[in-house]
Amino acid sequence: MTKLLVANWKLNPQSEKEAISLAKATDASGVVICPPFPFLRAVHETITKAKLGAQDVFWEERGAYTGEISPMILKTLGVRYVIIGHSERRRWLGETDEMINKKVRASLSGGLQVILCVGEPLVVRRKGLTAAKKFVKTQLARDLKNVTGYMLHATRLIIAYEPVWAIGTGRADKPEETVEMAQHIREILNPKSYILNSRVLYGGSVTSKNVLSFLQYREIGGALVGGASLNAKEFRKIIHIVAGYPVTT
Ligand code: PGA
Repeated sequence: MTKLLVANWKLNPQSEKEAISLAKATDASGVVICPPFPFLRAVHETITKAKLGAQDVFWEERGAYTGEISPMILKTLGVRYVIIGHSERRRWLGETDEMINKKVRASLSGGLQVILCVGEPLVVRRKGLTAAKKFVKTQLARDLKNVTGYMLHATRLIIAYEPVWAIGTGRADKPEETVEMAQHIREILNPKSYILNSRVLYGGSVTSKNVLSFLQYREIGGALVGGASLNAKEFRKIIHIVAGYPVTT
């Protein structure tokens, strides 16, 4: 299985011009670029190999929901993937598992490929990997409640394991522990028969220096990259490393 690299630009860059130039420089197959909403169209028009993703979505199709955007509107903009439940949204916007669950179901029904983010905070991880596994299991149970087989037909559910303490800190997880967590996630999904289509990504301080230490494992299907995806040179390096090309510095 080829690896997937998801570029989560978050609230960057500051202009459409910069977005276009970053998209152009990092356009490659196996890459999903997730810019802020206002740059979706411009990035879509720029890329020829990468796929387009959004950083969020709402669960209703239309109506009195100020500021929100539906799976259908995203699709008309060329969006194929959507990140749901990122820890920054859980933290800063108060997104609950119940809200995330609605977004997951609406997006799968609407034909988007969902990248569902889960991961434990530091207080939990300090208690050990077993506690972290338990935390993630609870998140998955809540976020995937009533997700049925038909919703997954012709779509894919991708789980991004992102330990909260590893995001943007320069302190990535230990790859051997990520593998154990990825296996755990696959075991949880297996009885629900999602497993045939699902892949587990790792996210949290991924760089060109550590990406292979994660992606060398069969269990880890790719990476969700934040900070390093904003630096064209660094992200291109990551793309080359993952594709197995020789890397020139
Ligand atoms: P980071 O962010 O690579 O900057 O740690 C990852 C993410 O939040 O998706």
